[in-house]
Amino acid sequence: MKTLIKNGTLVTAAETFPADLLIEDNKIVLLGHELRPEGARVVDASGKYVLPGGIDVHTHMELPFFGTFASDDFYSGQKAAAFGGTTTHIDFVIQGKGESLHQAMENWHKKSDARAAIDYGFHLAITDLTPAVMDEIPTLAGEGITSLKLFLAYKGVLQVDDTTFFKALMKAAEAGMLTMVHAENGDVIDTLIKAALAKGHRAAEWHALTHPAWAEAEATMRAVALAGMAGAPLYVVHVTNAMAVDQITYGRARGLSVMGETCTQYFFFTVDNLRQPDGSKWVCSPPMRTAADHAALWEAVRSNALQAVSTDHCPFLFDGTKPIEYEGQPFVMPGKELGSDSFDKIPNGVPGIEDRMPILWTYGVGQGRISLNRLVELCCTNPAKIFGLYPRKGTLAVGADADVVIWNPNTTRVMGARTSHQRTDYNLYEGWEIRGVPEQVYLRGNLLVDGDTWNGEPGGGSWLKRAAHGAVL
Ligand code: URP
Ligand code: ZN
Ligand code: ZN
Repeated sequence: MKTLIKNGTLVTAAETFPADLLIEDNKIVLLGHELRPEGARVVDASGKYVLPGGIDVHTHMELPFFGTFASDDFYSGQKAAAFGGTTTHIDFVIQGKGESLHQAMENWHKKSDARAAIDYGFHLAITDLTPAVMDEIPTLAGEGITSLKLFLAYKGVLQVDDTTFFKALMKAAEAGMLTMVHAENGDVIDTLIKAALAKGHRAAEWHALTHPAWAEAEATMRAVALAGMAGAPLYVVHVTNAMAVDQITYGRARGLSVMGETCTQYFFFTVDNLRQPDGSKWVCSPPMRTAADHAALWEAVRSNALQAVSTDHCPFLFDGTKPIEYEGQPFVMPGKELGSDSFDKIPNGVPGIEDRMPILWTYGVGQGRISLNRLVELCCTNPAKIFGLYPRKGTLAVGADADVVIWNPNTTRVMGARTSHQRTDYNLYEGWEIRGVPEQVYLRGNLLVDGDTWNGEPGGGSWLKRAAHGAVL
């Protein structure tokens, strides 16, 4: 089966150029001009851009959290991803206490394998580092899970101490694996939460007030320093503020192999969103910061102080007492209302896997904050390089998987829960205008999204075995 995408403008991290792109079976087989292969289905992309499929390296499908579950499962979340131009994601397997890493991995495969509609991989989040788990770490690398994650926050739930973090860093480095970190000081946050509750504070804004930027900056510096001492590469997830960026820059300036990402939402929202009557919609950790931090984050992604933009997609229903309809079926799951009496009970997390690339296209590229090539680098190429998927994923090149997005720069749309494919009842960007949308999305040569039509299916996606020793960028 051949598909010829003709007359488009191809965009990679390095170049923007007019060319035809030929797909044969699952792969890109030729880039060139005036291609006329026999028997190919021809798609005219005149006036449109052709991008590699997006890669979102930070998601939590169906995560058990705060006494409920993230509302997107692997199928609904992946369908939403595809409608937003993302064809690959990496989800966090969370090790339960007392569980082996392989058992945890098995649990995640059970949730994902038969439901997957796009390609995906796993990171392994360690919460219980026993001697047996230490021995398991290197075996993961050969099995295609080449990144670990540790949480320095969520005291009593996911948080690990510095000894655990340091041991994991050393072990991962030995095995050619990358360690990721949620960098907030969980002890400080726990103390601040208790103090706020004792004073009778219950409103959602107190989530932000008890998770100060310094708690993130301190934990980021600590993580950078520990990685330096362990001689280990480090990737800091969901960086939200200028001071945290500074710590990463400090480590990089001293030759440490430290990288970081931010997430779409941290460019746009502030604590004021949490002060709205529906403020729980914006509750996530770390929290939304300030307009000055937005500017610092744009500068950080422009200057390569941060190397990727992901989403931390972890949606909950705003009102989980009312069923919504998804693909004609009712769906209900406790959500943000669990915290209606107290901010510390609000499930932490926001939707965003579908929103990332269209929002960055309009409000990043469209408003002159980043170039189109940098958007591709941040959302496709760098994630693939850092996480051992390159050059199979993340670029338009001969031999790469034919994960291709035809982007119409002139189509306008209004963002909203009603038109979104994320399985939740709200959208952070409700009412925002978008100019430029993914019009066709191919996964390994299969046309998954064609305008408003969904051709994907559960089981159509594949689990990806990733390579160790990913790039440090
Ligand atoms: O609030 C968030 N970010 N929820 C998901 C878990 C995490 O910390 O990434
Ligand atoms: Zn986190
Ligand atoms: Zn996360």
